[in-house]
Amino acid sequence: MGDSSDRSTAEPLEFREVTKRYPGAAQAAVDGLSLQVPAGEICVLVGPSGCGKTTAMRMVNRMIEITSGDILLGDRSVRDRKPADLRREIGYVIQHVGLFPHWTIGENIATVPRLQGWDKRRIDTRVDELLELIGLPAETRSRFPSQLSGGQRQRVGVARALACDPPVMLMDEPFGAIDPINRERLQNEFLRLQAELRKTIVFVTHDIDEAIKMGDRIAILQEGGKLAQYAPPAELLMYPASRFVEDFVGSDRALKRLALQRVRDIDLWKAAAIRVGTPIAEAQAMIADADVSYAMLVDEAGRPKGWLSDRALAGERVTDDLRSPAHPIVDLDDVLRDALADLLSSETRYGAVVDERGALAGILSLEVIQQFLHAAPAASATGADLLRE
Ligand SMILES: Nc1ncnc2c1ncn2[C@@H]1O[C@H](COP(=O)(O)OP(=O)(O)O)[C@@H](O)[C@H]1O
Ligand SMILES: [Mg+2]
Repeated sequence: MGDSSDRSTAEPLEFREVTKRYPGAAQAAVDGLSLQVPAGEICVLVGPSGCGKTTAMRMVNRMIEITSGDILLGDRSVRDRKPADLRREIGYVIQHVGLFPHWTIGENIATVPRLQGWDKRRIDTRVDELLELIGLPAETRSRFPSQLSGGQRQRVGVARALACDPPVMLMDEPFGAIDPINRERLQNEFLRLQAELRKTIVFVTHDIDEAIKMGDRIAILQEGGKLAQYAPPAELLMYPASRFVEDFVGSDRALKRLALQRVRDIDLWKAAAIRVGTPIAEAQAMIADADVSYAMLVDEAGRPKGWLSDRALAGERVTDDLRSPAHPIVDLDDVLRDALADLLSSETRYGAVVDERGALAGILSLEVIQQFLHAAPAASATGADLLRE
């Protein structure tokens, strides 16, 4: 088992015709659910209350027994595994975290490593590593849960779930109890962490906006635990498979405007547009003045070349060392719907927006689109009609 963050494990997960019938219940809680989650992706289970999300998730680590069908973790059926082993091996994060109040943060994070019999030094090293990973200072390890904010406790819950480098993580409404501002922060942090760790994650939420933000793929469940659609977010937004999905996705009628609105009509984020050879102090001032913490290298005409690495900013003058290319490039005239699809298919949260001459005009982020969706007033028709035009 890996105990170093530069060797992260992840396994694919597959539901095969999985059904759960609780004793005495008139209908199945989960009904013939089949879906595949590729290793390293986030699959969001979303749908109205009681549609079987939690039940589906808990069958993965056999907190709930499968009635029929099978779940494969890697190429092994969870039915052939001991439930106790699965629960140790699979990371599990819930809404109210469930930290042990009389244990320190360090002890809480070390729960599973201790059960696994790791020696003290290895545990200490791992706890330090995890605290750093979730962005909490090292002193936090000797604090108690009650001394932390809700958001910090939630981060500790994530660290604890990651302790033994699980091949799969289950997260049931993990940010549900957090206020909207901190929730957005935690979501963003978690996505940054995930970009690094690439865990296979099953993430439950009842909030379609959170699903769209967090999911590589979204499984929409409807009453009786039936799968209504399983697709990447952009596809779901553009091609809802049924009236149910259309209503569920489109209940925020702002989607109509997403299809009609141009990128130039919304407030873009400002990024530092920096040329090779810029003195470092000047570059730092530009970055401090921007909305995005990464800086964009541009050529003489102001055309985006790529996101600058830390190394590019380490010397006296900016070099052309890049962390990633400027991709996707979005036009001011693109409709938001297409720009969103570009962002999602490029698996990036930021798109460089260019004007007619190809010069950087600003940054389009998923957050900006999200804010736009939230700010939009309810329209009279559902957006889904327009999205399918
Ligand atoms: N332990 C249980 N015993 C009997 N019925 C249950 C149990 N847990 C959940 N259910 C029922 O199964 C259905 C799905 O529940 P759940 O998976 O918790 O849905 P969700 O997480 O989507 O809100 C609901 O109708 C719920 O009442
Ligand atoms: Mg639930």
